[in-house]
Amino acid sequence: MLEGFNSSAATFAADVDQAFWIHIWISVGLFLSVIGPMIYFAWKYRADKVKNEDIGNLTHHTILEITWTVIPVILLMLFFYYGYSSMQVLRTMPAESESIVINMEGKKWSWSHTYPANKSGFVHKTAELYVPKDQNIILKMSAPVNDVIHSYYVPAFRMKEDVVPGRMTQQWFNSPVVGSYDVECAEYCGTRHSYMLSKINVMERAEYDEWFESSKRTPGAADVKISKGQEIYESNGCAGCHSIDTAATLVGPSLMGIGDKYDAAYLKDAILNPDKDVPAGFTAGVMPPFTMSDADVDEVIKYFNNTDKGKELYESNGCSGCHSIDTDSILVGPSLKGIGAKYDAAYLKNAILTPDKDVPEGFTAGIMPPFALPDADVAAIIKYMKSVK
Ligand code: CUA
Repeated sequence: MLEGFNSSAATFAADVDQAFWIHIWISVGLFLSVIGPMIYFAWKYRADKVKNEDIGNLTHHTILEITWTVIPVILLMLFFYYGYSSMQVLRTMPAESESIVINMEGKKWSWSHTYPANKSGFVHKTAELYVPKDQNIILKMSAPVNDVIHSYYVPAFRMKEDVVPGRMTQQWFNSPVVGSYDVECAEYCGTRHSYMLSKINVMERAEYDEWFESSKRTPGAADVKISKGQEIYESNGCAGCHSIDTAATLVGPSLMGIGDKYDAAYLKDAILNPDKDVPAGFTAGVMPPFTMSDADVDEVIKYFNNTDKGKELYESNGCSGCHSIDTDSILVGPSLKGIGAKYDAAYLKNAILTPDKDVPEGFTAGIMPPFALPDADVAAIIKYMKSVK
């Protein structure tokens, strides 16, 4: 929780802290130099110690007045110098060619980060930010036009910048320390303002690169569990020929969304006897028949039907900021618990794309923005909704 309490988490944090402490100590000095003499004189010249006839009438004291003007001017210039020079470091963007430029969107009530495409054309979109250490990162930040102002605040880095609808603001940082740092919204933006939390995860370069060039939604840290089916899929080399996260054709066809298209019996047959039904444009005899136990085949099929992607999309698009999916509690919008059993896919799709068309009783139109998501993403989210009981 106190990660970044000292000023090493970002390269410019020490400059900001220095400006802060100079302000504090000069302020303490000024406070004591005014309040100290005031208390002393109030005590020294208290009413019963002074006779009226002893009170003189001073009109001015030139040297004293020049002193108490010149010294504060010098102190104010020090304030300006340290404030301005540390602000300049924060506001001078590094060259984009030497930086990773990430688009950040802040909306009611979540953050999402969109990365540049990696070598295989995959675009990462994440709810938390993942960056390598010792690397300049530029955040290009905006909010949807109908949204409100938010502020992207990273206490450990001493950086904060408004996120304004319809305008692009920027900030940059470079963190030399691997760790996970809190991100908060620092501009009151309505009901779920205090839940607008995220993280900046600073990683080792190699770890970052491995994730970035992969199509994994979040880096394969120890706490990200790989399902048994995925393990079998990868360890059997399926991934070498079939992309499952993208529509790209590697050697064989992409298996993205395959769970929706075929039933378990067909998929099992396709693994065990691949030459029986070869898709148009591909050649028989390329994929070897796999000998796998029934249990393993079942796991792989479960993986084809997996709902991890929908869950990631549900979170990275900020749905979870307003809709609880595993409890009955009402956050901003209604709970979506059990929604998959109540409505069909067409209705759910409509509710995501054009939410104002049918607003449940007790809720107001115009709060949920329409989400312009590709069909595959909508399908994944709906599959996830249906999977949560
Ligand atoms: Cu967003 Cu407060």
